[in-house]
Amino acid sequence: MFQTLSQKEKNFLIIFAANYIGIVMIYISRDVHFCAAHKLYNEKWSKEKNEEVFGACANENWHGHNFDMTVTVKGPVDPETGFVINFKDLKRIVNEEILDKVDHKNLNLDVDFMRGKLTSCENLIVEFWKILEPRIKKNSNARLHCIKLKETNNNYAEYYGE
Ligand code: NI
Repeated sequence: MFQTLSQKEKNFLIIFAANYIGIVMIYISRDVHFCAAHKLYNEKWSKEKNEEVFGACANENWHGHNFDMTVTVKGPVDPETGFVINFKDLKRIVNEEILDKVDHKNLNLDVDFMRGKLTSCENLIVEFWKILEPRIKKNSNARLHCIKLKETNNNYAEYYGE
């Protein structure tokens, strides 16, 4: 039955259960920023169709975005530190695993894990998740909860690992 619930309902039940047995579940987030170039282009399509679907993002000679990303982790509060995860550790993990690989890079050409994939926000956060999730699990009692990636002021994508 749990499987059929929405993420929102699941989260509510998890928090409810955690409070009931005396564990408080806290969500903490780190905002980061990176600049990167890309091109959205499906090689199977004509130039016209790519321009129709991807608009300015299909520009042959690349273009850049100022990306804003929020990484949210959840977990119980460690009684010894008062932290879910030390922000210092979260910063290091996100910097080493993601920012060092994408900031001031061409997402199509320079980033190993995006090779052969369309460099949309959606595809980027799924790949970021695969990298960050095990690293966070290994380094703390916290779990990755959400990655939010904002490509422009108006458009963003979120991934909850499901
Ligand atoms: Ni673009």
